[in-house]
Amino acid sequence: MAVSRSGFSSRMGFIMAAAGSAVGLGNIWGFPTQTASNGGAAFVLVYLVLAFCLAYPAFMAELLIGRYGQANAVTSLQKMSKTLWQKRFAFLVGFGGIICAALILSFYGIIAGWMMSYAIEPVLKLASFETGASWVVTHSLTRNLMFTSLFMLATIFIIRHGVENGIEKWSKRLMPLLIVLLVLLSSYVFTLEGASAGLDAYLNPDISSILDPNLLISALGQAFFSLSLGTSVMVIYGSYISKKENLVTLGAQVTLIDVSIAFLAGLLIIPAMYVAQAQGVTIFAEDGSLVSGSSLVFTILPTLFQSMGDVGLFVAFAFFVLMSIAALTSSISMLEGPVSYAVERHNLKRETATTIIGLIILAFSMVIVFNLSFMLDLVAIISTQYGQPIVAMLCCVFVGWIWHRNDVLAEIKEGNSDVEHSVFWKIWPWYTKFVCPTAIAVVFIHSL
Ligand code: PFF
Repeated sequence: MAVSRSGFSSRMGFIMAAAGSAVGLGNIWGFPTQTASNGGAAFVLVYLVLAFCLAYPAFMAELLIGRYGQANAVTSLQKMSKTLWQKRFAFLVGFGGIICAALILSFYGIIAGWMMSYAIEPVLKLASFETGASWVVTHSLTRNLMFTSLFMLATIFIIRHGVENGIEKWSKRLMPLLIVLLVLLSSYVFTLEGASAGLDAYLNPDISSILDPNLLISALGQAFFSLSLGTSVMVIYGSYISKKENLVTLGAQVTLIDVSIAFLAGLLIIPAMYVAQAQGVTIFAEDGSLVSGSSLVFTILPTLFQSMGDVGLFVAFAFFVLMSIAALTSSISMLEGPVSYAVERHNLKRETATTIIGLIILAFSMVIVFNLSFMLDLVAIISTQYGQPIVAMLCCVFVGWIWHRNDVLAEIKEGNSDVEHSVFWKIWPWYTKFVCPTAIAVVFIHSL
């Protein structure tokens, strides 16, 4: 008996889930950090252009592959393939994306665990449990193992409940909360001394640095990471969308939300850094660049929160809860990639597949935790700087060169019957065929 496949129950459900995947630590931490280390507003400008001109077309390619195939990444890509070598190639690309998602989750879960531990610190302080409060924010093996496991268990819990009752339900709850927290926090930071200098640095571009190759590479990498491309995630989310929906607008809406939230996060973090400076915290490194990376989130911002007295405890709590939520709605999408594959290709029950795969990824996270200083960066670089661009590029190659143009059109026409006469259809096929793969390859080769 054929079992009907589950999917998102509504358009809003898809938007929240896909935006939940896209909006994560990459937006709230990565984007402001990259902005800080790449000359401020010039980076913002380039990022906006690249997100819409390159990441969005590639995002559309992945969504379309999934909705056409109505299955996990491997099966969907194989449905588009006609010859044996195409099917083998499809397997490599689809499975490559799934491995990439699992690798990203293995290091993302560790960082998300830190966010959770920093969210608990102010609560312990309020409860006058000082020893516990300092333990949760001090690097130790036990602390890292404990919080990585907690975070992974939350991810497994949601994915075990499936698409509608897990991913969709939790994304619909958590995403609005994330937006409210972000707006409240940035409005509060604007009222503090020093914030306007931060706004100036964030919003006034230095046009001369716009064509700096390093800036272009960082901006494109950030845009691809942010839209979760090259990981099989958007293929599987695409497969859960109804054929009645207009994919072109849905994709654009998700891109817009993703970019807006990154922009909003910049409005919080960069002014917050300058507020910290007004309070005597050093925010510039020796070479004159703004401090970025982990010291920004785990040193500068906590110092700022501390200087606010008791209010700071609430602000710190809100900030790190915000980070944890953003991470959770992304991590569930990363786990869904491998789980959907195991369920559909190997006939495993969803609950069993989720627990087994979740625990394997957690075990790998633990290996990273034991070798943090060299493995964390290594796994992040392999998966995000190599894996994601290669898989994303090959997905574009699939849509542009292997999938027949008339079949592509037929799929986009579902839910969007006039698309043939739209600007989208005049530009996008060429973009996916030539511009996206070339641009990704150029950026990739450059980054080597
Ligand atoms: N887009 C997420 C972020 O910006 O934090 C990260 C991410 C999610 C990457 C899902 C890859 C993925 F499959």
